[in-house]
Amino acid sequence: MGQESFKWFPLLVVSLFHTSVRCSSVEQKIYVELNSTVPCVRLLNATHQIGCQSSISGDTGVLHVLETEADLDWILSTGPHPPYMVVMEAAFFTRSTMVKMKNSSRVAGVAVIKSNTGPTEGFSPHTSCPNQNTGVYTEHYGPELANCNNTVWNPLGNGLSYEDFAFPIFSLKDDNQTQVIRKCYEDHNMRMNGSAPQYPLCAMQLFSHMHAVTDTVTCMRRTDLQNSFSINPEKLCDPLSDFNVWTSIRPLNNSIKGHKENESVVIAAARLDGRSFFWDIAPSAEGTVSSIVTLLAAAQALYPVALEAPPQRNIFFTFFQGEAFDYIGSSRMVYDMENSKFVIDLDNVHSLLEIGQIGLRNGQSLWMHSDPVSRKNTTVNKQVANLVANIKSVASSLNLSLNEPSATQALPPSSFQRFLRVRPVPGLVLADHQASFTNRYYESLYDTATYLNVTYPSDLSPEQQLEYETEAAKSLTQVATLVARSIYKQAGGEDRFLNNITADTKTVAKLLYGFLIMSNNSWFSSLLPPEALGRGSILESSPPQYYIGLRLDNTVKSVTRFVQFILANMTGTVTKLNQSQCQNPKDVPGESKDLYSYSWVSGPVSVNGTTDPYCVRSSVHLSKALSPAFELTDYGSREYSTWTESRWKTIRARIFLVASPQLEMMTLGVGVAVLLVSLVVTYFISSKAELLFSATREPPNTTY
Ligand SMILES: *[C@@H]1O[C@H](CO)[C@@H](O)[C@H](O)[C@H]1NC(C)=O
Ligand SMILES: *[C@@H]1O[C@H](CO)[C@@H](O)[C@H](O)[C@H]1NC(C)=O
Ligand SMILES: *[C@@H]1O[C@H](CO)[C@@H](O)[C@H](O)[C@H]1NC(C)=O
Ligand SMILES: *[C@@H]1O[C@H](CO)[C@@H](O)[C@H](O)[C@H]1NC(C)=O
Ligand SMILES: *[C@@H]1O[C@H](CO)[C@@H](O)[C@H](O)[C@H]1NC(C)=O
Ligand SMILES: *[C@@H]1O[C@H](CO)[C@@H](O)[C@H](O)[C@H]1NC(C)=O
Ligand SMILES: *[C@@H]1O[C@H](CO)[C@@H](O)[C@H](O)[C@H]1NC(C)=O
Ligand SMILES: *[C@@H]1O[C@H](CO)[C@@H](O)[C@H](O)[C@H]1NC(C)=O
Ligand SMILES: *[C@@H]1O[C@H](CO)[C@@H](O)[C@H](O)[C@H]1NC(C)=O
Ligand SMILES: *[C@@H]1O[C@H](CO)[C@@H](O)[C@H](O)[C@H]1NC(C)=O
Ligand SMILES: *[C@@H]1O[C@H](CO)[C@@H](O)[C@H](O)[C@H]1NC(C)=O
Ligand SMILES: *[C@@H]1O[C@H](CO)[C@@H](O)[C@H](O)[C@H]1NC(C)=O
Repeated sequence: MGQESFKWFPLLVVSLFHTSVRCSSVEQKIYVELNSTVPCVRLLNATHQIGCQSSISGDTGVLHVLETEADLDWILSTGPHPPYMVVMEAAFFTRSTMVKMKNSSRVAGVAVIKSNTGPTEGFSPHTSCPNQNTGVYTEHYGPELANCNNTVWNPLGNGLSYEDFAFPIFSLKDDNQTQVIRKCYEDHNMRMNGSAPQYPLCAMQLFSHMHAVTDTVTCMRRTDLQNSFSINPEKLCDPLSDFNVWTSIRPLNNSIKGHKENESVVIAAARLDGRSFFWDIAPSAEGTVSSIVTLLAAAQALYPVALEAPPQRNIFFTFFQGEAFDYIGSSRMVYDMENSKFVIDLDNVHSLLEIGQIGLRNGQSLWMHSDPVSRKNTTVNKQVANLVANIKSVASSLNLSLNEPSATQALPPSSFQRFLRVRPVPGLVLADHQASFTNRYYESLYDTATYLNVTYPSDLSPEQQLEYETEAAKSLTQVATLVARSIYKQAGGEDRFLNNITADTKTVAKLLYGFLIMSNNSWFSSLLPPEALGRGSILESSPPQYYIGLRLDNTVKSVTRFVQFILANMTGTVTKLNQSQCQNPKDVPGESKDLYSYSWVSGPVSVNGTTDPYCVRSSVHLSKALSPAFELTDYGSREYSTWTESRWKTIRARIFLVASPQLEMMTLGVGVAVLLVSLVVTYFISSKAELLFSATREPPNTTY
């Protein structure tokens, strides 16, 4: 309460100040809203807050474009008009620059102009040891491997994404608006021969105030308190969450949870998400898309053969969400398996093959990573060696080079580590790197299609690009074939059918286009339900979102829905059900919601522009990817991910011209002086009114 009334005084002054500023110059009224911006937002875990924010009324500073070292010096020490709003090309967005700015009180905010190609020396704002505290290696399990002691996976990682900045940082799309900003800067703020520019100056204002502070424990406690005492509870932060996608070759009764008798599954896994420094920019081409595309293409290749000649064991495909944030999806699935809340349990798991980063193979060897600690057990070691032998025999028939790293090397960061935390499941992670990542742009805004060489001749229409088979597509197709055959063999499938399993280059090309260039393409739209198209469509003229976000409400624009429907197309069958039967197949003989899921999809657009929707039956399911920490209300958990995202009201950026503070103060001063003078005059007039006015009324005394 006391704080409320305290605010009045500065507010009054500020509003007076603003009024006078507005009146002092016509140019004040010219605001240019910058609308293609993406902020860095605040995220919280059990113990820290990271990210950025502005003050509640936005942060304002004089615009300065950072182009040389001299500019940095100007901003941090010599420039006469602090605080500065720094606009920079992505090349200047480095740890050393940002830390200097973080340390300085002369920086009001930063805007980074997005670029599609990164610096050749590499750039990764992630940590050098991703998910360090939530993997399998701890002081109790392979202590000599914990904290990346043995292999630093992401040596270029500078940790910028995990810093806490007290000022706003935005990303700007490089378009006409950056030209407007540059022009405003050049016209008003450029130094001329070293001397300071004159007012009026071009200023920028960024709004990204964040409601949550300190850490998840604090934020969730406050939210819970509000929920119990307030009629209108206001949430301050939300757990990061979305869905995992899974399917199996032989359908499993999803209404029965827990152990399944006589069921042994080989799991093939990949991750669905990535991140970068900024809120929902996460291109994740090598980091994530390469493995999604490989696993989808493998599922498609494997499926028809597995129906014709079923292998002895079941094959279970799974895509985990939220892995970038301390393994949200995989830790939840493992937790559900342990607690009989999932369709199978850990006793049903025979072995596991995870697809890691795989897009930068470049004709070189692939690597099979395994866990040296669980392999000390001879039983487990034999099973892993068997899996290795299976993959090797397939690779040699495909003429692919494949190796194992040194027997003492730890597993790279992977969902598989969450299984190993619970029991020594035999498994491998397949990747294009022997030790540290080949990826020089891990979890950064440069991990794009260009980096994977997914580029097209300039004369192709979008429809032709969709079909165009790049070298990257050919390379990933080989890997997908390897994966599909290896899993089939691992599941006990007969060798004589292996040659029937071949991934399709055209499909891989289309997947790469949809996941890296543009989700709004004819193929993706034919696979989605009609309500996902049209208004509020999840299709965009850009790739899908790879940042996990807060998407438990099923309006998901994220990659999850795309994978769900693509997988349904690749592993499902077209049925004759009509729309209402498709939505409610319970009463249709031979159909079962326990075993299958049914989706009503648009189908391809015909020549006359209409579509012919149909019903697809598949065993593709979603399962919650919300960290068990929130299920257990253990917000300070050290076992499970605790990442939450702060809520906010406004994200906005604009530029405008400001007059000199002296002029502003003078205007204010003049205003106040006029006020005071008029008060005095009024007082004087009213107190002497009788004297002043009576004199005029009374006739003049004419006696001299
Ligand atoms: C962005 O702003 C420009 C003008 O400032 C306007 O023409 C354009 O439509 C806006 N774009 C969006 C997506 O709002
Ligand atoms: C930042 O400031 C702290 C103390 O204020 C100082 O110890 C540190 O060296 C500074 N870092 C840089 C990079 O300037
Ligand atoms: C880190 O690894 C080295 C050898 O690679 C080993 O000598 C050292 O003890 C390890 N450190 C810890 C803390 O385990
Ligand atoms: C929370 O994040 C910070 C910053 O990355 C990290 O230093 C800390 O260890 C994390 N806390 C937990 C409990 O994981
Ligand atoms: C951007 O600028 C180019 C030329 O500079 C112009 O052709 C184009 O129409 C502009 N786009 C918008 C949205 O203003
Ligand atoms: C800057 O200096 C150069 C020569 O030193 C001179 O030609 C030029 O006119 C100066 N520009 C301004 C704006 O003073
Ligand atoms: C799946 O399990 C439920 C619960 O036990 C059972 O009622 C149902 O008949 C099963 N469905 C099939 C297709 O077996
Ligand atoms: C494998 O391919 C052969 C020859 O193309 C074909 O005759 C056979 O039916 C296929 N088998 C399976 C299980 O798809
Ligand atoms: C991409 O293309 C460049 C130039 O052709 C080549 O040097 C690079 O190795 C290629 N990268 C991959 C991953 O194929
Ligand atoms: C090795 O692992 C198997 C299966 O997990 C377990 O049953 C066995 O007890 C382990 N052996 C040793 C020596 O730890
Ligand atoms: C998958 O999509 C293709 C067209 O892209 C279509 O021909 C096929 O019937 C679909 N299959 C299923 C099971 O939906
Ligand atoms: C559009 O073409 C399809 C066959 O391609 C036909 O079944 C349908 O009736 C046509 N619709 C219209 C409105 O002409």
